[in-house]
Amino acid sequence: MAEEATELTESTTVAVIGAGPAGLTVAALLRSSGIDCVVLERQTREYVAQRQRAGIVETRAVRMFDSWGLADRVLGGAPHDGILDIRVDGESHLVSDNDGSEGPTAVLCPQQVLVQKLTATYLADGGDLRFEAADVSLHHLTGDRPTVRYRTPDGTLRTLTCDFVAGCDGDHGISRSAVPDGVLTAHAFDHGIGWLTVLADAPPPAHPLLAVSPDGFAAHFPRGPYSSRYYLQCPPEDHPGAWPDTRVWDALRIRLGDPVLTAGPITDREIFRLRSLVHDPMQYGRLYLVGDAAHIVSPMGGKGMNLALYDADLFARAVRDSVRDHDDTALRTYSQRCLRRVWSDQEFSHWLTRTLHDAGDDTRSGPFHRSLARARLDRLFTLPSAARTFAELMTGVDP
Ligand code: APR
Repeated sequence: MAEEATELTESTTVAVIGAGPAGLTVAALLRSSGIDCVVLERQTREYVAQRQRAGIVETRAVRMFDSWGLADRVLGGAPHDGILDIRVDGESHLVSDNDGSEGPTAVLCPQQVLVQKLTATYLADGGDLRFEAADVSLHHLTGDRPTVRYRTPDGTLRTLTCDFVAGCDGDHGISRSAVPDGVLTAHAFDHGIGWLTVLADAPPPAHPLLAVSPDGFAAHFPRGPYSSRYYLQCPPEDHPGAWPDTRVWDALRIRLGDPVLTAGPITDREIFRLRSLVHDPMQYGRLYLVGDAAHIVSPMGGKGMNLALYDADLFARAVRDSVRDHDDTALRTYSQRCLRRVWSDQEFSHWLTRTLHDAGDDTRSGPFHRSLARARLDRLFTLPSAARTFAELMTGVDP
């Protein structure tokens, strides 16, 4: 009862749950439209700012920020030259991921740079961002004014009433679990493949590099002027401890077909499973799921963060239409429009995942699938229409 006495109630237009790429983009876009929102994030600012995951903001997402007048403020890192190196058994094939359309193109912007810049932009514009918000819970989602309850770091219970809730709290957040059982359908797929991911202070490759080899898939991506992320296919149940530095560098040199690859201090080492998950619909009452809270896409093709940015853009535009013009059409079609893009990206990522793994080690997929995958790669390297489709899918720009 003493707790109830300290409860404070506030009101806003949009309550945004989670300050990852999705939540911060929603918040920055709403703020730039003059729409009130409050962001509640469970972690500290320092924790959120250092989480290293995705590394490429695709062309479509760069143009999205550009259309809001925010590209210069929220994007950092080096421009991407539009070339990918797909190396098969040590032989490089340079593939363009630039579809030739007009406008700014993809940037090599590590996720933590995007998150730090979005945070700074939102706060500089007077945004309300509350870190270390504990025990967030959602109520009355199908009513006119949903309620969000949470605790401040000093234990005070707070209540926010709002018009809309943006559930941007990732795959393990509370937003999706606030939806009653049976409302959402989950479509899940596990590739049965693990990736060891390694971050190291070592020179970046000339181009983002994806490598097929009989020992399994490997990749090498830039993460800064003297920083790289590497991936090595491994059994999903492997433990990072089974991959000491020498084993990592030996495996990379063999699979990348680069015996003189420069090593460097390894700063992070994790193993994860390649999996995909889609929740349909992405809406329940006045709750809208954005980013990983609604879908996970396996990392091949770099679509995870970019899909989150796509959802965030559609949601912010839909809220703007509703608040400014009293037009709810885009809110009503939000889920359907997002899911169309989600399934397109799932298909592309699935295709690329299968192709680059099956083309290498045939102990898992068998020689028939290995030959199919190699035929697909051959088509990509030799057929201009196949190369163009690949570039269009990489840029993410709507035809
Ligand atoms: N209350 C408040 N915040 C929460 C809660 C909660 N109960 N649970 C999670 N969060 C916060 C997390 O701490 C995190 O900061 O929500 C945020 C979710 O961020 P992400 O998991 O990065 O999800 P999203 O913003 O959708 O990012 C999408 O970016 O990280 C890449 O590859 C990743 O595909 C992903 C993409």
